[in-house]
Order: sequence, then structure tokens, then C-alpha cells
Amino acid sequence: MTEIAVYGASGFTGRLVVAELARRGVRVVLVGRDEGRLRRVAVAGTAAGTDADVRVAGVEEPAVLVAAFDGCAAVVNCVAPFESFGEPVVRAAVTAGCHYVDTTGEQPYLKRVFDTFGEAAEGAGVTVVPALADDGGPGDLIAHLTAAALGRDAPVESLTIADLRLPGGVSRGTARTALANRRLWGRDGGLHWVDGAWHRGTVARCETVPVPEVGAEGERGELKVAPFALPGIVTVPRHVPARRVEAVMRAEVAPLFTALSEELVEALPDGPGPAERAAARWLMAAYADGADGRRARGAVTGTDGYGLTAVIAVEGALRLVAGGSAPGVLAPSQAFDPADFLAGLEPHGVRWSVRA
Ligand SMILES: NC(=O)c1ccc[n+]([C@@H]2O[C@H](COP(=O)([O-])OP(=O)(O)OC[C@H]3O[C@@H](n4cnc5c(N)ncnc54)[C@H](OP(=O)(O)O)[C@@H]3O)[C@@H](O)[C@H]2O)c1
Repeated sequence: MTEIAVYGASGFTGRLVVAELARRGVRVVLVGRDEGRLRRVAVAGTAAGTDADVRVAGVEEPAVLVAAFDGCAAVVNCVAPFESFGEPVVRAAVTAGCHYVDTTGEQPYLKRVFDTFGEAAEGAGVTVVPALADDGGPGDLIAHLTAAALGRDAPVESLTIADLRLPGGVSRGTARTALANRRLWGRDGGLHWVDGAWHRGTVARCETVPVPEVGAEGERGELKVAPFALPGIVTVPRHVPARRVEAVMRAEVAPLFTALSEELVEALPDGPGPAERAAARWLMAAYADGADGRRARGAVTGTDGYGLTAVIAVEGALRLVAGGSAPGVLAPSQAFDPADFLAGLEPHGVRWSVRA
């Protein structure tokens, strides 16, 4: 029977991933640094029908980590922040011959994974797909489909990826991650892509975007946006022939990430409760301008960003295990058929639309 390892299984997102694997009847290996916390998750999982296996391994113990992943078909990494602790888990997964996905949204870490692990993953015959969360996954897939609506391989003059969610509860791990990445997320806005290369800092070319077709029901006209370091900047130029790619977030949400302090973060609960999760809506949109003046826009939306992140990461891991993706480090749209992957999320309440 297929076994999938979850690193950081005792964290807020890790527990949701364990529950989603259990729901699908997959055997889970819970991996992390603290045996007591992992066992509590395993006991809850066993009660819910999971046949769980606990393996203790810190990120500073490479050989122990590799041994923990031994025999697993894939690793789902839910550590926080990835900037500090993500890379040893990728390295160990590849060394152990496991496919790999994670839930990062952190640009610098994400770029390092592409820059560092491609050759090793190809050599090991495994596929690494980082950033399979509710922003990096659907954002990458909808950007691909929106650009494709201009015509197959048509040159794209500019592509804007927009995270248009309204303010809502975040987990303590997300807040810690935001704090760790604050300089990049808050001040220079991260990377942008122009003329075949990534550049530091953002160009605030776009201050508003049109209300998308789905996910912003009740809103009209234009939405105010601000530059933001979304993961799609690192993944989308790998499969969309765009001269320029930039990323923005709703203007009222972006400053919340820069207002965080250590005290505020540590006072947060580990994650939003069930009612808050159910009420939260996430919304990723893409706006493409073709070199020939044609335009397209697309959007993908759903509720419960944390629950959906677990679904997206598990769906990705299981698709990698099923086979068909090339070995190496790949963007979501390179590893999976974008429309088919989004269709797989529809039973979980995800809606999407693309219009040229
Ligand atoms: N982009 C998105 O849309 C999205 C959505 C969901 C989650 N995420 C990201 O996913 C990550 C997890 O979030 P979360 O809320 O689940 O965080 P969390 O509850 O704080 O969980 C973090 C996990 O990392 C482990 N960890 C922390 N420091 C470690 C270390 N030094 N060595 C080994 N393990 C360590 C923790 O282990 P212990 O339990 O032992 O402390 C825990 O299992 C965050 O980076 C978050 O931003 C992103």
C-alpha cells in the first residue's frame, strides 16, 4: 500500500494534510521533531481510521530524515517557515527517492528549490513540486490557462497574478512565516519577471484590477491592489511565454503582513477555528495582455484556504505517485494538466473561469 510522509505533521497545516490523506484511505507516516506532538496527531488519526506510523527526525539530522522517508512514495512538507527549515526536507526526500510537494508561499525559498534541486531530482527520477498551497497552486494553474486563452503559445506582453482574498484569520505558522520573510514581502515587494529574467523589487504598473468573473460576487468595477511577493512570480514564467509577469494583492490586505510583531504572532491561536475557516474565501486571478492587443482574464476561488491547501497538496502528491510527471523540479502547470487539476478540486467547492 502506498505510504505518504508528512513532515511537520504536528503543525496546523500538517494535521489537515494527515486528515485529508486519512479521508482518502492513504497510509500516512507522520514525521517531525517532537515525538509527543506527533503521537497526539497519530492517536487522533487512528481514531479517524488512519493507520499511522510516527518517525522522529529533526531538520538538522540529514541521515535520520532520509531514513524517516524510506519506503514512502512521496513527502508532503508543512514545516514553517520554509525559509529556515524547508531545504533539508527537500534534500532528504530526493535522496530517499520520494516525490515531494510543499505548502510554501515564500519566494526566496521557492526560487532556491528550483535553482538547487533540479539535477538531483532528475537523477533520482522524482518530481518536486513546491508551493502547492491555496495561492501557489491555483494561482499558477489559472495563470497558465488565462495566458493559453490568448492562443496556444501566443506571446504574452504582460501577465498580472492577483491574490484577491479579503482579510481573514491566519495560522500562527503563516504569521511566523510572514515575519521571517517581512523584508521581502513588505518593503521591496519581492521579485518580478521581465525580458527573460527575474529582477528584485516590483514595478507597480497596476494599481487596480477588474472584478473577476467568480469569487467576488457583490463587488463591482475595479479592485485596488498593491505589489506583493506571490509564489507565482517564480513558477509562472517557466511555462508562460510572457515578457512581463507581476504579482499583486488586495491593497487592504498587503499591509497586514507588514504590521506583524513577534508578540502579536506568538499570541495567535495555532490556526483559525472551524467557523472562521468555513467563512474564509480565497480568490486567485490572472490578467493577460497579448502582444497582439488581445486580453484574457481568469479566476479561481473557494472557501477554507487551509483545508483547501491540504486538499491541493494531497491531490498533487497522489498525482505524482500515480505517475506521468517528468522528473525534476516543476511548476504546478508543468507537473499537471492545469484544467484537469482544477476540475479535480471542484468536488471540494472550487470554482473557476477563464475568458478571452
Ligand atoms: N501559501 C499558502 O497559501 C499557505 C497555506 C497554508 C500553509 N502555508 C504555509 O505552511 C507552513 C505551515 O503552516 P502552519 O500554520 O501549519 O504552521 P505551524 O502550525 O507552526 O506548523 C509548523 C510545523 O513546522 C515544524 N517546525 C517548526 N520549526 C521546526 C524545526 N526547527 N525543526 C523541525 N520542525 C519544525 C513544527 O513542529 P512542532 O509541531 O514540533 O512545533 C510544525 O510541525 C507555513 O509556512 C505557512 O505559511 C501556506
